[in-house]
Amino acid sequence: VEVIRTDYKPLKWIVKEVELEFRLFDGYTVVDSTLIIGKNPNAADDDHNEYEGLVLNGDETNVKLLSLSKDDVNLTRDEYDLSPGKLIVSNVQEGSVVKMTVEIVPEDNLQLSGLYKSGGMFCSQCEAEGFRRITYYPDRPDVMATFKRVRIEAEKAKFPVLLSNGNLLEEGDCEDGKHYAVWHDPYPKPSYLFALVAGDLGCMSDTYMTKSGRKVDLKFYSEHGNVSKLRYAVESLKRAMKWDEDTFGLEYDLDLFNVVAVESFNMGAMENKSLNVFNISCVLACPITSTDANYQRVEGIIGHEYFHNWTGNRVTCRDWFQLTLKEGLTVFRDQQFSGQVNNSAAVKRIEDVLVVRGRQFNEDAGPMSHPIRPDSYVAMDNFYTATVYRKGAEVIRMYDTILGSKGFRAGMDLYFKRHDGQAVTCDDFLAAMADANNVDLSQFARWYSTSGTPTVTYSSSFDAEKGLYQLTLSQSSRSDEPLFIPVAVGLMDKESGEEVVSTVILELKEAKQTFDFSDLKGNVVPSILRNFSAPVKLVPASDIDESELAFLACHDTDGFNRWDSAQRLYTCAILKVMGQEESKSTIDLVHQTFGKTLTDETISDDSIRAYALKLPSESTLAESVEVIDPPAIHLARKLVMTMIARTFQDQLMSCYNKLTALIEKDGAEFNVDGVSVGRRRLRNVCLAYLCSIVDTAEEQSTAAALATRHFESATGMTDKLSAFNILVSMRGGGEEARDAAIKKFYEDANGDPLVLDKWFASQASADLPDIIERVKNLVAHPDYSLEKPNRCRSVIMSFTMNEAHFHDASGKGYEFLGEMLEKLDKVNPKVAARTTAGSLIGWKRYGDERAKKMKIQLEKLKALPRISNDLSEIVAKGLKK
Ligand code: ARG
Ligand code: ZN
Repeated sequence: VEVIRTDYKPLKWIVKEVELEFRLFDGYTVVDSTLIIGKNPNAADDDHNEYEGLVLNGDETNVKLLSLSKDDVNLTRDEYDLSPGKLIVSNVQEGSVVKMTVEIVPEDNLQLSGLYKSGGMFCSQCEAEGFRRITYYPDRPDVMATFKRVRIEAEKAKFPVLLSNGNLLEEGDCEDGKHYAVWHDPYPKPSYLFALVAGDLGCMSDTYMTKSGRKVDLKFYSEHGNVSKLRYAVESLKRAMKWDEDTFGLEYDLDLFNVVAVESFNMGAMENKSLNVFNISCVLACPITSTDANYQRVEGIIGHEYFHNWTGNRVTCRDWFQLTLKEGLTVFRDQQFSGQVNNSAAVKRIEDVLVVRGRQFNEDAGPMSHPIRPDSYVAMDNFYTATVYRKGAEVIRMYDTILGSKGFRAGMDLYFKRHDGQAVTCDDFLAAMADANNVDLSQFARWYSTSGTPTVTYSSSFDAEKGLYQLTLSQSSRSDEPLFIPVAVGLMDKESGEEVVSTVILELKEAKQTFDFSDLKGNVVPSILRNFSAPVKLVPASDIDESELAFLACHDTDGFNRWDSAQRLYTCAILKVMGQEESKSTIDLVHQTFGKTLTDETISDDSIRAYALKLPSESTLAESVEVIDPPAIHLARKLVMTMIARTFQDQLMSCYNKLTALIEKDGAEFNVDGVSVGRRRLRNVCLAYLCSIVDTAEEQSTAAALATRHFESATGMTDKLSAFNILVSMRGGGEEARDAAIKKFYEDANGDPLVLDKWFASQASADLPDIIERVKNLVAHPDYSLEKPNRCRSVIMSFTMNEAHFHDASGKGYEFLGEMLEKLDKVNPKVAARTTAGSLIGWKRYGDERAKKMKIQLEKLKALPRISNDLSEIVAKGLKK
């Protein structure tokens, strides 16, 4: 059934207090619950509530109801109503005590929603609607109850660690080798923030002293063998705690903070109150097994989940349509944190914008397009999207841009003052921002209800006599009324290349507006949408001025726009090569820009230089064409890359050697500070260019030798994987090196799941003619498993992102995916749905022949006798005309 946003109604009866008891047996688990019922103060008497009784959600296919009582009287079948998904208890009153016992089988729970087993341990994932797979309960975020007592009992030898939210009240031994722990969480919370963990886990402990003097115990748990890999996450958490105190005055509110690393997990991590659960890929880090990007992800997600304690837990969502209220805001907070603590705001911004433009714009262009506050859903889990998270964060960033950081902070302060302890809406957030700053944000509110990517078009004129530059901006979007778009602009003098007008925020509020800049000495080049100040596509009203792009790529003082201008220029060149258009002048500009970027001494950050040298990815390039032909994009990009590499071969080699020397001089100690990361990043970009020269057998073996040397001398995973990613695609003279590297990487992994994921992903991403056969072999490999989301993603999702081959004209890639999805949907529908949403449903943009073949796979899935809710929602959207 479809849930509609505007249908929201508060419940008449809610749970005020809850006690839970979990008895974990081998093969089944018994859950007792005691609910203290109260009248919902938020439901007015004249609210025409759908139901008179107490409405509990429960997934009857997982939860077996064994007994049910009210005020200690067992209820018979006519005193309650049990229908699919729902249990309604009639005649409840203020203070009624409802008790029940249910049985569940975590061992069979392969969807990984609710209580399940990962490896030998029990763990839980309740957001969005997993708690109803544990017991019957009003499983919605506007029901905030105190979890007064959560008792867990299990065999002591197998499950020495028993965790839930809040504080540990007591623990002790029972008979038969069992033991128990009792937890109490003083903060009322919705059921989606409940968590339980039981296992044989090792722990890394630390402490953090808050600004106001609370000593917090930090406990990070993982399998025993991985404990030492938790150090970076612990340090990241301490930085995050300090940052939130300094930036927003927000402190941690309990004496204990637990984090648990879990191998089988559908997403990145989960912010359960004081018991964050993490995918191992987002919390474990060590130089031998993790790349710099992995380290960065650990820091970002540790920050993200911690920041949720205020933006998500203390103030939560009234209903799931408001998801961006906590996710957009918390992503913005983690982005700011990562950019600021690493002193690399521009680099971080580039990386974040790559995701918005790559994934979010793509989502907006397809049938899953939705506003950051969606209007309906069938399976809520399908709406944990790039739009809700990433575009949501861009919307929060626009408040910050419009109101300034002081104004934004004032809005946050008022938001917490008004809503601490409440479940609220996006409108409440906007109202706090508006009221704290005394501004009217009603026009800005349209961002919450407008789907699709808006376009901003620009044109300009210069009156030399008056020294007047006029910039005209116009907007178009799916909103009937214009949006409020903050456009950051600076002006560069055309002659000197100096900045003559530093960044100003133009408030584009009408369909078309002209902004005047006077007192200019000479003509200027505009730098528009600096720092990507709004999630829009920026296009010139007339033809692209490539020399302006080259100019900005060399002179812009805005690090982000400088990078972006180069990317646009590279895009022009690649598209011209692809269209077999005259491209000489563009290529000349590309060479000028590339050469300058490679040697410009004013660029002090190697990461910035590396990003500026890299060509746009194939998926980014796809954003710029009407009809996507992935193999053609792939080929054109490769041609341009090789051409640049040949032109600058010597300079690239000497840059590479210089960096090698610097890194060697620094010695063995491994660091992930900005300087070390930048050097590795730049050196790996040089390597990729150098190894792109592979037109003859001789060149192939030269490239293979260089990559192999890089691979073998790598001191950490960043370098090793960069080389491996190149080696897996080697042909002809490089085949031997390729096969040797595949063998060596596997042996070195020594069974480590995160390294094996890389081994699978890299091969599924390879550029080889027989790739489909290879991917089929990968899923037949003994280390492959459909039941582990990370492994599944590393092969299936990686292959769908290997665009040129997944979209092979034969349609074999689609057929393979279709077969995989059919199997996967029976095991883990959430991962199946996600994989489909990121691949097949975009058929419209791939031209008739491919579209037809992609659609066939969607039709096949639709016709499956037992398709899941999650997958069927995506398939239906994908097939809607
Ligand atoms: N709230 C989690 C986060 O930090 C993600 C939970 C995702 N759960 C889901 N069912 N999709 O972003
Ligand atoms: Zn989140």
